[in-house]
Amino acid sequence: MNVMGIEEVDTLSPSLRKYADRNSIRIGTCASIEAFQNDPVYVQTLKREFNLITPENALKFGPLCPEQDVYNFEAADRLVDFAEANNMEVRGHALVWNLQLPAWLSRGNFSRSELIRILTDHIKVVVGRYAGRIKIWDVVNEAIDYDGTIKESIWSKTIGPDFIDIAFHAAHAADPAALLFYNDYGTEAKEMHADGVYKLLQNLLHRNVPVDGVGLQMHLHLDDLPAVQNLSRNFRRLSGLRLLVHITELDVRLSLNGLPNKEQLAAQAYIYGQVLKTYLAETTCKTIILWGFTDRYDWIPHFFPGDGASMIFDEEYKKKPGYEAVASQLTAYP
Ligand code: XIL
Repeated sequence: MNVMGIEEVDTLSPSLRKYADRNSIRIGTCASIEAFQNDPVYVQTLKREFNLITPENALKFGPLCPEQDVYNFEAADRLVDFAEANNMEVRGHALVWNLQLPAWLSRGNFSRSELIRILTDHIKVVVGRYAGRIKIWDVVNEAIDYDGTIKESIWSKTIGPDFIDIAFHAAHAADPAALLFYNDYGTEAKEMHADGVYKLLQNLLHRNVPVDGVGLQMHLHLDDLPAVQNLSRNFRRLSGLRLLVHITELDVRLSLNGLPNKEQLAAQAYIYGQVLKTYLAETTCKTIILWGFTDRYDWIPHFFPGDGASMIFDEEYKKKPGYEAVASQLTAYP
């Protein structure tokens, strides 16, 4: 800010976004509405470093629709407006998931036809509202279990496995121009899971379900390095289905005992770098999204106690070796 309180736009110093723009790469992050509203350094860093955002929670069923037929779009609108004002793309996440559902829905005891109606109405309202503004959607999130079968959820139990088809058709009807994705975790490490995701997509395409792409979340741990070395095959075979392949939620967590040490930070940087390098070499897509960028708002310690420091900036927004690793892959790309 200058003395007038006007934001100075930094056009000189290098940033991930500038490197990525030069090579037509999308480099994104999830964005937390709480941090966005309360932390100016977060906002500055967000727009300086990234050209895409995924609202971290604001577009999920629970936060968006706390009571039946009552929608609260305020948080999502703020993030979408911000993205547009700063020439960033938005990835919509996630229309159908088994988690972060509102209580009225998970405790509702709805019949199959009622739940289909709820699902399709929800998609129509949300995708319809942002049609032409949110051009990419995670339509179905995490529907496959570790053994490769359809995961048990309110959707699969009440509707059956075709809830996936129904969701994609509804999203396509609501915005025929949007790119529609299936998104899942663990596909880098667990073979049965990865095979299950691959088969699901193969089947969807076979039945002409309008799916355009697959999102690989890639929540990694330092111990996942061997899996990272096997990534090529998965990227290649999914691309072979003529699907867009995006990395949608990359983070690399450490087991912490106080502050991370030098070796851990170097190993973390190596993994960030290897993932980007393999991805950019094996796919023609160029969309890489981190699940956060500063350790200050790392989601990991809340879900994996004892782990954390997963991001490329530390809690004080100092660049970690992971930042340099990401930057060097974005610039190395021909
Ligand atoms: C996480 C958010 O980061 C947390 O803030 C929230 O409490 C739980 O969800 N896979 C996904 C994301 O698809 O939506 C999850 O995000 C992380 C795992």
